[in-house]
Amino acid sequence: MPGDHLGTSAVAHPNIALIKYWGKRDELLKLPVADSLSMTLDLFPTTTTVRLAPGGVADNVTLDGVAAEGERRQRVVAFLDLVREMAGRVEPATVVTRNSVPTGAGLASSASGFAALAVAAAGAYGLDLDPTALSRLARRGSGSAARSIFGGFAIWYAGQGTGTAADLASYAEPVDVPGFDPALVIAVVNAGPKAVSSGAAMRRTVETSPLYRAWAESSRADLADMRVALRRGDLDAVGAIAERNALGMHATMLAARPAVRYLSPATVTVLDSVLSLRAAGIAAYATMDAGPNVKVLCHRADRERVAETLRAAVPDCSVFTARRGPGARLSAGADR
Ligand code: ADP
Ligand code: DP6
Ligand code: CO
Repeated sequence: MPGDHLGTSAVAHPNIALIKYWGKRDELLKLPVADSLSMTLDLFPTTTTVRLAPGGVADNVTLDGVAAEGERRQRVVAFLDLVREMAGRVEPATVVTRNSVPTGAGLASSASGFAALAVAAAGAYGLDLDPTALSRLARRGSGSAARSIFGGFAIWYAGQGTGTAADLASYAEPVDVPGFDPALVIAVVNAGPKAVSSGAAMRRTVETSPLYRAWAESSRADLADMRVALRRGDLDAVGAIAERNALGMHATMLAARPAVRYLSPATVTVLDSVLSLRAAGIAAYATMDAGPNVKVLCHRADRERVAETLRAAVPDCSVFTARRGPGARLSAGADR
């Protein structure tokens, strides 16, 4: 049972944004500049267990079997501090978390990681939060985690201003698109950790890229178009909007000073093969996050053909095929 002496466990999946979150207007509250919209995956769950340690002196964090130290640990401790403040509690905790997606590779480990931690920590400290409140809480760990609270497609509202009112207004909610069930074929060309974290890279982009404002503005229009395309279940429109939004985001980073470049030669090779698929009449559209790996949106009926094409383009890459997956939830736990 959740909350017993074995701890409270939760599972959450990564999400991939079709309209990207890139840039905060408030670092502490993790309030974004613009709204974003994503698909939660059915692959790569993170499982997190939080056990209270009333006699302990400090939080203990294990990520993928290794004791977390430095910034990794501090990020979890700060998150637990927030949960403790909300719950009026003081006990330290032991956190054991395991990602099935590579950590820090631009495959959204921070989204599944902090969504799972939000659910498990809220449970362990006796906070009874509805999904909206869980989404706000997860946001404080990593912005993109706000969306992994929900399955399927989710929109994360930026809200307006700063302070408490803005905090309340910035959460994700499901976007109901019954019957729209595309495949997302993921080409992992490099599973290694990124040189610059998403948070640091977006900060530098907002502060130094002359292209940033223009992209943020165009992203608002992309989101409006995306909502129409989703409602219609129009994969070509959804894919084209997602692709232009992602390429625009990378353009803002390339123009930052110094430049942030996550895309590698293998990324570009995969992008070429996506173009060749389209030239052959296959609806396939690419999106990339803060890393070199490419996610290709296509009809489920085309997923094998797309996966084979990507494998042939970059023979040493790993290819995974995802579809829409579930939201974060309490689970029986991995360690029992
Ligand atoms: P990614 O592309 O994987 O989301 P980020 O740079 O956004 O990369 O975030 C990676 C960081 O997120 C890690 O260095 C770690 O601090 C945190 N993180 C990832 N997974 C977890 C987890 N399961 N529990 C707690 N923190 C996590
Ligand atoms: C490119 O949510 O990882 O994947 O809020 O600083 O933790 P922090 O950043 P994070 O940024 C994700 C950026 C992105 C786009 C997206 O997921 O919307
Ligand atoms: Co992240």
